[in-house]
Amino acid sequence: MKVLVIGKGAREHALCWRLHQSQSVWRLYCAPGNPGINQLAEPVAVEPGNFPALISFVRENKIDLTIVGPEDPLAAGIVDEFRAAGLAIFGPTRAASRLETSKSFAKSVMQSARVRTAPYRVFDDDNDARAYVRSLDRPLVVKADGLALGKGVTVCADRAGALAAIDAAMTEAKFGAAGKRVVIEEFLTGEEVSFFALCHGEDAVAFGLFQDHKAAFDGDRGPNTGGMGAYSPLPQFGADLEDRVMREIVRPVLHEMAVRGTLFTGLLFAGLMIDGGGEINVIEFNARFGDPETEALMMRFDGDLAATLLAAAEGRIADADVRLSPRSAVTVILASGGYPEAYRKGIPIFGLDRIEGAVPSDLKVQWAMKKIRVKVFHAGTALKNGQLVTDGGRVLAVTAMASNLETAVTAAYQAADMIEFEGKHLRRDIAHRGLACGGRPA
Ligand code: AMP
Ligand code: GLY
Repeated sequence: MKVLVIGKGAREHALCWRLHQSQSVWRLYCAPGNPGINQLAEPVAVEPGNFPALISFVRENKIDLTIVGPEDPLAAGIVDEFRAAGLAIFGPTRAASRLETSKSFAKSVMQSARVRTAPYRVFDDDNDARAYVRSLDRPLVVKADGLALGKGVTVCADRAGALAAIDAAMTEAKFGAAGKRVVIEEFLTGEEVSFFALCHGEDAVAFGLFQDHKAAFDGDRGPNTGGMGAYSPLPQFGADLEDRVMREIVRPVLHEMAVRGTLFTGLLFAGLMIDGGGEINVIEFNARFGDPETEALMMRFDGDLAATLLAAAEGRIADADVRLSPRSAVTVILASGGYPEAYRKGIPIFGLDRIEGAVPSDLKVQWAMKKIRVKVFHAGTALKNGQLVTDGGRVLAVTAMASNLETAVTAAYQAADMIEFEGKHLRRDIAHRGLACGGRPA
């Protein structure tokens, strides 16, 4: 089949990498793509928000399946428009994407479905929000209701912090319309994990468990980022966790979405907090593949991705091949100096050819002998006069897979250290929780 991927980051590069290897795919396009993706897929110079141009392209080129990477086109209704035009697309409708695009909606679905989540209140008036915060004396989390480029969530250690977060979101409108409404919820403790399920209405199947590292610096310190690294599987949790998440969270939520007449089709990403007693609480939902989780997922997945996503899109979940390698995959993000605050772009990147190109390297021989797989996905890169340069906060997603977590981590860092650009920033402790338990299943 002919497949179009929408997006331009490392998540889309990882998806294209697997699609390129799918038996069923004979032609692959990506709109708009990036220098890494463009080695695998034909670039289409259309922005993800230009639905009429995308629909024309899909019609003219007889594309069989379109796969949406980022949340913005989903929130703007790309799936609704494609379906109205009779075109096959993988992703949720605009109404179903509200699980991600409106935190108050997601909370109300969870409440109706009796899914565990932090106790919360929703406010449209800043004075009411302040009065509520003043009436409490415990750590709270203040969340802009809508999409705010991952910056709308403020974890507040005390009342003053919560009041400041309300000022920023509601009074100063720092997140625009997204922060006019806020959700204020209790602070949860425990270990955060990301869970993926492939869904079609009330049918669903688990598609991986991951741990992301959102803070910018080692030891989970510093500002929140889009994600500094991920790994999968998670040796610190037992094999029953995925079944429990499907039973306690995914199925009840999908059922409630069906009851509300907004069937969810696509990838449901549940951000979870697992506390010391093993209780699973939902922190948030996303209506798309996570980044950098997807880079690790695509390493472990070696089925036919196009056939799997088409089966989900068409409601044939039983035909979706979601088997993952038992080996460990680790992704380490190389970011621009300063990210997630201001950073420079256009800085030359060196060393990638030593990992992937024809340039011989002792490490490549070693990796081959030890059956270690290493792949570098492009997150924010551009070509300037033939030279690869930085073009975003997250620049590259260095991903390795090996028979155990420790070896995968070592290989990912060996590769990360071979790549150079001025200001390169990475966390040195990706997968520390998995390694702390010995890297083997509990
Ligand atoms: P989000 O943008 O919703 O993913 O939230 C960003 C981060 O804030 C999450 O990854 C958590 O680390 C943290 N967070 C959000 N809600 C809570 C909560 N209720 N308790 C503790 N941490 C939270
Ligand atoms: N890794 C978190 C996200 O994709 O939102």
